[in-house]
Amino acid sequence: EKGGYKHFMLKEIYEQPQVLRDTLREFKTIQKVVDEIGEIKRICFVACGTSYHAALVGKYLFESILHIPTDAIIASEFQYTANTLDEETLAIFITQSGETADTLNALKAANKNSKTLAIVNVIGSTATREADHVIYTRAGPEIAVAATKTYICQLACIYMLAAAIGKKPEIMEDLKKVPEEIEKILREDNFIKEIAKTYKDKPDFLFIGRGFSYPTALEGALKLKEITYIHAEGYASGELKHGPIALIEDGVPVVAIAPPPFPLETTKIEEDEFHDSHSLTLGNIEEVKSRGAKVIGLGAEDDEEFKKNTSAYISFNPSIREEISPLLYIIPLQLLAYHISVMKKEDPDHPRNLAKCVTVD
Ligand code: F6R
Repeated sequence: EKGGYKHFMLKEIYEQPQVLRDTLREFKTIQKVVDEIGEIKRICFVACGTSYHAALVGKYLFESILHIPTDAIIASEFQYTANTLDEETLAIFITQSGETADTLNALKAANKNSKTLAIVNVIGSTATREADHVIYTRAGPEIAVAATKTYICQLACIYMLAAAIGKKPEIMEDLKKVPEEIEKILREDNFIKEIAKTYKDKPDFLFIGRGFSYPTALEGALKLKEITYIHAEGYASGELKHGPIALIEDGVPVVAIAPPPFPLETTKIEEDEFHDSHSLTLGNIEEVKSRGAKVIGLGAEDDEEFKKNTSAYISFNPSIREEISPLLYIIPLQLLAYHISVMKKEDPDHPRNLAKCVTVD
């Protein structure tokens, strides 16, 4: 049943190129859903955990590329903040299981005053019956408690929604390049295992990224803490100097995510006011390095300036820029967490205190 893999989690990580291709075939269906929904003035993503990190990527995508006002709300916080939804708002609920109590409660509340759409993996689950519209991720069953392949498929659905709503075929073109790039990264698994071996006994990790890489930093940190029990925090790189830099001392691993930057022409920001995420993150990396941090870098293979400030560097195809990078840059962080978990003799498929589906609020 594990198809020759030692754990379901590893099998599911390796399935990602295929399930992403399967999910990309849903584009026509998504276009139909978008036509049915009609005009959208505002979007509100709602989810928990890893699905919330997909929601956060959605906020960056819809606001920076489509210029549609978009929120990403943690489902358990929904009732305290989402008091201004209306019929011109599309509330999008992202849930692998379709049974998460916090997400379902928020969905029921949103149904009263806005249009609702659910992005779900489990066919026929409660969320699919409650929402006005449904899009399925084609990840297949996910057995390991930690979400991996369903996250990639959720992201793919969000990007396809953006392509359909914004009538931007170039987003689809970018998406189609990703499965092959995931395959290339999976071939670097032994190198990632080496990194895992070097850092597995460290008690704390920081993950940093700006813009589209901020959700990746949060998700990388979540994967690590869930299955290795190492303390890990994900931060927006710019926030380091506002507190967490106090934690940096000799030898602390900092995972820095800095893909080639988002192009200025797609933003509404004036040139002299635009500070690209990449050069600023590089500055933040120098700050932590000079205080003794061991930087594990994730960036383009030709980015010599970044590489020289790192202790380990995971390289990606430079044509995958920031705006599509969340689908690719998370893969080595899933592997890193997996390998550390196995090296620490933990069970990555069944982390303590966690259940696959959280039906209490
Ligand atoms: C993390 C993880 C959880 C879920 C969260 C939401 O690896 O699996 O954080 O993402 O419990 O679950 P769903 O997507 O089923 O609503």
